Amino acid sequence: MLFGNTLQLLVGFLFVTSINANSDTERIAKFNRNMNRPWIIKDAIGNPVCPGSHQNEIVYKKNLTKKLGAIKLLSNVGKNSEGVYTFPPGVDYEINGEKVPGDSLVVKLVHMDSDYDSCEAEILHRIGSLRDHGKLWKEANFGSDAEDSPSSSPSGSNSGSDSGSDSVEWLDYGVLVMNKAKGKSLSQYEWWKQLSEPQKKELVEKTLVDIKNKVYDFLKTQQLLYADLNLDNILVETETDSVHGIHSFKEAHLVDFGFPGIFTVRKIPEPEEFDSWFYEQFNFYSADLRKAQNWREFSGTQLVADSESSGAGKRLSNLNHDAGTGGTGQAKKQRQRRRGKLRMIED
Ligand SMILES: *[C@@H]1O[C@H](CO)[C@@H](O)[C@H](O)[C@H]1NC(C)=O
Repeated sequence: MLFGNTLQLLVGFLFVTSINANSDTERIAKFNRNMNRPWIIKDAIGNPVCPGSHQNEIVYKKNLTKKLGAIKLLSNVGKNSEGVYTFPPGVDYEINGEKVPGDSLVVKLVHMDSDYDSCEAEILHRIGSLRDHGKLWKEANFGSDAEDSPSSSPSGSNSGSDSGSDSVEWLDYGVLVMNKAKGKSLSQYEWWKQLSEPQKKELVEKTLVDIKNKVYDFLKTQQLLYADLNLDNILVETETDSVHGIHSFKEAHLVDFGFPGIFTVRKIPEPEEFDSWFYEQFNFYSADLRKAQNWREFSGTQLVADSESSGAGKRLSNLNHDAGTGGTGQAKKQRQRRRGKLRMIED
């Protein structure tokens, strides 16, 4: 029964985070219809079934409080980074005796209040992006103060003036240390607001083609469907022609493999069926942007012309939190290692 209540809460959570207050029931119904395709597996009340669930005790076992407490992690301000932290410049993080540059990593904190919170670790492991995991005992800040460090020590955290510092609560958080993806979500670029409407549209369309291929590849190789197609979860690398001030699309990367965004599937849908699901899903998540820009719904056909020039052929190996180190040789090696890992898991 308790379990059932938790699930109800999670269903509520899905809709609260996916839909803004001005959304209508028709939109929700459309979303539910889109997720109700026979090839998508859901439990009895419509929640995703994700791999690696019910493993919180194992995944979030190692106590990283001391190790992370020694590092003043920075809160990564931005829409797509709730609960995601970065390392201060120049600080390394030790993984298996090896010093890894902190600027190639991000740290995500999870609440461990759902049996599905361990899924993200499993998925990150599968795509070769999980570098460390454990738990962290820290002051709860309930997401209100973005300046707060997750590793603030009990002694040195009395500078806050607003909230009642006498009633500070301490909680155990699950920790996922993962490779940092390159790029930013489009709206995080300072120049995004200055772009003309056609320029914006072109960037979104090219991003969409690349992401569509990556989501389909992920589906085919892992039998997992990435469904949380919010633009905030899509980091875009761009190239800037500084002479003309033109920003062009380079490559897109999905982030946030947490519950409830990943679904398992019964079978791999045909490309046409997948396309129809994909655009319907993206149209749902991009409703506010489309409204603001006066764009029609996205569909497969209007994008065909773009697919040649957009680097859309890039494969699954790029669907991950690629280390932000930029070295192509290293990236290649990492990709090879990752592929080896994928094979090992599939065998
Ligand atoms: C984890 O370590 C910290 C400090 O090293 C300690 O205060 C805390 O009680 C530990 N948590 C558990 C659950 O052992």
